[in-house]
Parts: sequence; structure tokens; C-alpha cells
Amino acid sequence: MAKNISFPCAITLFSILFFLINPSIAMPSYNVQRYGARGDGRTDSTKPFLTAWSLACGSRARAMVYIPRGTYLIRNIVFWGPCKNIITFKIDGKLIAPANYWSIGTSGYWILFAKVNGISVYGGTIDARGTGYWNCRKKGGYCPQGARSISFSWCSNVLLSGLTSLYSQHIHLTVHHSSNVRIQGIRIRAPSGSPNTDGIIVQSSSGVTISRSSIGTGDDCIALNHGSKNIWIERVSCGPGHGISIGSLGEYANEEGVENVTVTTSVFTRTQNGVRIKTWARPSNGFVRNVQFRNLVMRNVGYPLIIDQNYCPSGSGCPRQSSGVKISGVTFANIKGTSTRPIAMKLDCSGSHHCTGITLRNINLTYMRKSSASYCKNAHGKASGVMVPRNCM
Ligand SMILES: *[C@@H]1O[C@H](CO)[C@@H](O)[C@H](O)[C@H]1NC(C)=O
Ligand SMILES: *[C@@H]1O[C@H](CO)[C@@H](O)[C@H](O)[C@H]1NC(C)=O
Repeated sequence: MAKNISFPCAITLFSILFFLINPSIAMPSYNVQRYGARGDGRTDSTKPFLTAWSLACGSRARAMVYIPRGTYLIRNIVFWGPCKNIITFKIDGKLIAPANYWSIGTSGYWILFAKVNGISVYGGTIDARGTGYWNCRKKGGYCPQGARSISFSWCSNVLLSGLTSLYSQHIHLTVHHSSNVRIQGIRIRAPSGSPNTDGIIVQSSSGVTISRSSIGTGDDCIALNHGSKNIWIERVSCGPGHGISIGSLGEYANEEGVENVTVTTSVFTRTQNGVRIKTWARPSNGFVRNVQFRNLVMRNVGYPLIIDQNYCPSGSGCPRQSSGVKISGVTFANIKGTSTRPIAMKLDCSGSHHCTGITLRNINLTYMRKSSASYCKNAHGKASGVMVPRNCM
């Protein structure tokens, strides 16, 4: 009897597993070409993309938006949720912005997903063609504000996997007011001299994982702004760029803090900074707590380890003030490599709110094949293991 049951049972189990692993088989798919998109690099395909999105978003079953091979010209586009079910957004092609940078540069966003709960974006290349825009900025001409390339705002349960972002006008990828966001296997590229082309900026978001990604750009590879909580960054290669930063924080008197951040198993190559916490020198109720920077390699990095609480770029509203941002529980562990400046570790904390609970463990950073130096101000904590440069706390 048992034998008679087990065979059909196995088949049922197999097909259930099969559909769980291959949801695309059962999923209705909305191919953008069916709604008029053309992969010729010239035809404006914004409307067909929106049509495919609204059909997928309105589908009661899990649905897919599919972008086949080809190059699609897209203007500013917002994929609004909430949707009726989970969406898969599969890109086999390349999305490009119009050649004239004014076209996307005035609205702040190029590709925006807003208020979507449950979205997986796979593959693809997006190219904002920012060169003309950077040149305008560099010449100090009259330029638009610039567009972020791809953004998720007020979203939850997001997966972004395998995307390449090229030549963003401004920030490549932003995650704002979102939760449970997984970013993996992405590639970001812009030249080191392209202004303010940060790789990824997270703000007011919780549960964000960034892994197995390669970021080379003109500003921070990753910046965690106020309200970034429960952030895990692993296996990221950064360079060129300004490193991985927490901040700038404390620009405003009332600001959400940053907590529970881990940056691990990552490599920085010829970056301006390695890992950094940066706050404005002015009053604020913000904080940074429970941060782990560990298992990091620095290759010819300007400031490998840095806490700077004296940020005052414009010179107005902050000089001779001190930062209100309270920094506590920051660990730097298992960090090795080379610094291009004599001071490889600078812990420059606020005079009114000292840094507390700093842990230094097994650090070996050399400068010109010799030991590097360190600088500490208002920083308190403990050190153990190898310490090159020496502990200055
Ligand atoms: C940060 O981590 C601690 C310890 O794991 C946890 O108790 C706390 O709830 C976390 N904070 C947030 C905002 O989730
Ligand atoms: C630090 O690293 C350098 C270069 O790899 C190495 O020669 C040196 O022995 C290390 N120092 C310590 C104390 O481990």
C-alpha cells in the first residue's frame, strides 16, 4: 500500500519544487516589445515599458516584465506600486538615457521603483550616458540637478541581482525609505573624475544587504546616510572611488541615527578613503552605533581608516562648532594593506561628544614599506593584536 502512494507523491513533490525553483514557468510574462518597445537604441520606449509594468503590476498572479536583448532608449520612468502580487523584472537588454543630458537631468531620477512590495530585478545594463553632464558640471556651466540612475523608494522585499550601471549623471543606485533589500552581483562603473557619481546610497532604510559587487566610480562606492539600520556589506571591491562611508551625518539638528552596520571581506584599491565615518561639525541628535569594519584589504588607499567629525565643506554654519553625533561601538579588525598617506588611521572625534567603545584588533597598514602613523582626538576604547600604526587612543 505504501508503495502505491509514494510514487504519485514523489511526482507531486517534484512538481511543487519545480515551480518553486522556476517561478517563471508559471508566471505571465509581459514582454516590452509586445507593447511597442524597440531595441534599436533610437526609438523612445518609455511608454511601452510603462504599459508592460502596469499590466504586470495589476496581475493577480506573480508576473514578469521582460526586456529582451537590444538597446532601449528610456526617458525618466517611475514604476509605481503597490502591485497586486510579486513582480520579476528581467532585463536581457541595455537601457540607455537620451543623449541630451537635460532630458533626464531635471527630475532627479531616471529609473525609479516606488512603493513596490516584492520585486526582483535581474540582469541588464543601464547606461545614463553622463559624460556630457559631468563636463557641464566641471565647466561650472548652467546644468540641471542630475539624475540618479536607478532608485528604490518606499519599497520592501527587493532583490537587485546582476545589474550593471554605467556612467550615471549623479548617484548610480539609491535605496530610500525601504526595507529588506538584497543587492548582489552588481557592477558599477564611472571614471574617477566624474563628480558626485556615488555608487550606492542608503538612507532611512533597514535590512539592506550588498554583496559580491564591484564598484568603481567618482565618489563614495557606498554611503550609508541617516536612518541606515541593519546593513550588511560583504565581498565588495571598491576603486576608484572615495571608499565606503557612513555619512555625511549630522547636517541637521534632528536626524535619525545609523546602527548595526557590518562591512566585511572587501577590498579597496587606490581609493581616496577606505572605511570612513563622517559628520558635520554642528549640533545634532544623530548617532552611529554598533559598527563592524573587518577583514578588509587596502591597496594604496589615501585614508584607510577614518573618523572625521569636523566636516564643514562650505565653511558656513559649522566652523568652530562641534558635532553632536554620538559615535559608539565601532570595531576595526583584521585590516591590512598599504596607505598612500603617512597617517593611515585618523580618529578625529567631536569635542562635545567623544567617540566611545572603539575596538582596534589586528591592523597592519604600511606607508612606503614602513609603519604608518595614527592620529587620535577624543577617541576612547581598546586595542589588541598586531597594531601598525600604533594605538593612539
Ligand atoms: C541592532 O542590533 C541589536 C543587537 O543585535 C538589536 O537588539 C537591535 O534591535 C538592532 N537595531 C535595530 C534598529 O534593529
Ligand atoms: C605588516 O605587513 C607587512 C607587509 O605585509 C609585513 O612585512 C609585516 O611583517 C607585518 N607586520 C606585522 C607586525 O605583522
